[in-house]
Amino acid sequence: MSEGETYELTDHIPTAPNLPGHVVLSGDGDAALDALGLDMLLQAKKCVHEFGDFHLALSGGNTPMPLYRRLMYDPSFRDFPWSHTHLWIVDERCVPFDHEKSNFRQIHELIVEHSDIPPANVHAIYAYEPDADARYETDLRETLARRANGQHRLDFVLLGMGDEGHTASLFPHSEAQLVTDRWASFNRGPTVVPPDRVTMTYPLLNGARFVAALVLGKNKAQMLHRIATGTDPSSEIPIKGIVPVDGQLRWYLDPLSARWPVPAEA
Ligand code: 6PG
Repeated sequence: MSEGETYELTDHIPTAPNLPGHVVLSGDGDAALDALGLDMLLQAKKCVHEFGDFHLALSGGNTPMPLYRRLMYDPSFRDFPWSHTHLWIVDERCVPFDHEKSNFRQIHELIVEHSDIPPANVHAIYAYEPDADARYETDLRETLARRANGQHRLDFVLLGMGDEGHTASLFPHSEAQLVTDRWASFNRGPTVVPPDRVTMTYPLLNGARFVAALVLGKNKAQMLHRIATGTDPSSEIPIKGIVPVDGQLRWYLDPLSARWPVPAEA
């Protein structure tokens, strides 16, 4: 460029929004899945070494499905300690397991059927049963209490975020957000996207050692910006209620979710 020539300043490189916790901003969605997968692998190995097993809770939604596939076929994850892993479901729709909307069905098809995870370590939510929340809570409390070390906490929770800020099945202004003394709860009501749900609650999620929030794509950009800059309470934006007590919260973003303002369509 010759002297005196002007050039346009662009903001094509987004800077990470100022979210609570640690932000990992990757070059694209694939790289974000890799970063998350490698952190999960690291935590899994660490927990198996320290505690003898690894308690992993996975969410449904579209965003993490390519990661679940990748965990099975990508050689980088070949030594994931599935045989020492307990698999939990963060939330479930009140439908039978063979229903297309069942999170358990998807996670079972993508992970359980392709790994050597012991069947007894796979913890479904029987969300179509009337006592599903109590039953899941008993399973959680009894299983986590049986650990020789590292009891009473999940090791790694993978969360997603809806465009309106829900996470797990904790929707804005919904009943389950108010639960402080239980680890699992039904969630129903006008703001809960049907069907009704069973969800892990804040006390369990916030007790985890590591909480990963995977938030990709431009539809999430406005909400991330609002979380980073606004003062809305967690009743309005449920993911703001994710504040690990003695663990870490790490966001995995791509340039589309991190970029604000969202550029107009070309
Ligand atoms: C579910 C979830 C839910 C999800 C968000 C984001 O089962 O639907 O646990 O909290 O993570 O709705 O979903 P997307 O990844 O599809 O945007």
